[in-house]
Amino acid sequence: TSFMALKGERTLAMIKPDGIYGNFTDRIKQVILENGFFIVQELMVQLVVENATLFYSEHSAKSFFPNLVEYMTSGPVLAMVIEKTNGISEWRALIGPTDAGKARVSHPHSIRAMCGSSAQRNCVHGSDSALAAAREILFFFGDISAGAGAAAAAAVEL
Ligand code: PPS
Repeated sequence: TSFMALKGERTLAMIKPDGIYGNFTDRIKQVILENGFFIVQELMVQLVVENATLFYSEHSAKSFFPNLVEYMTSGPVLAMVIEKTNGISEWRALIGPTDAGKARVSHPHSIRAMCGSSAQRNCVHGSDSALAAAREILFFFGDISAGAGAAAAAAVEL
């Protein structure tokens, strides 16, 4: 197949269970598109414990890790590959600080201020580096040209 190659930088954006259950999906996608990103691919899945443990493995020693895994397996997530020039840092800037409670004060126009409520329930995720983006896109989508990735294979696709 020969798709037109896009020229931006790809990152992994994810709407977490609180974003899905709060019906924020359409508003978040609108913000993504209004800010000049392409949505390259998307996948809605229900992660199982093994998936969430692997996805957040760099945080496995943190005290909040069991809560994080429980939360991330509590409902569906929407993973998206989004693309724009400087897409990784642009998406991190749009979502705002990790702690959504603090984001409401310091970054009131950020996505987390709009739909998150705490450091755990912060409604969206964004890759924090080029290495993380590559790993996280692979996690959900595998080789994009070859089909579904690890999460799609192990998690329940919705
Ligand atoms: S750290 O410690 O600075 O590396 O952590 P941080 O980058 O702020 O957060 C990493 C992810 O862990 C989630 N998180 C939490 N979950 C549950 N409880 C608490 N207290 C908590 N603090 C942070 C946070 O939502 C981050 O998830 P992502 O998906 O990367 O936003």
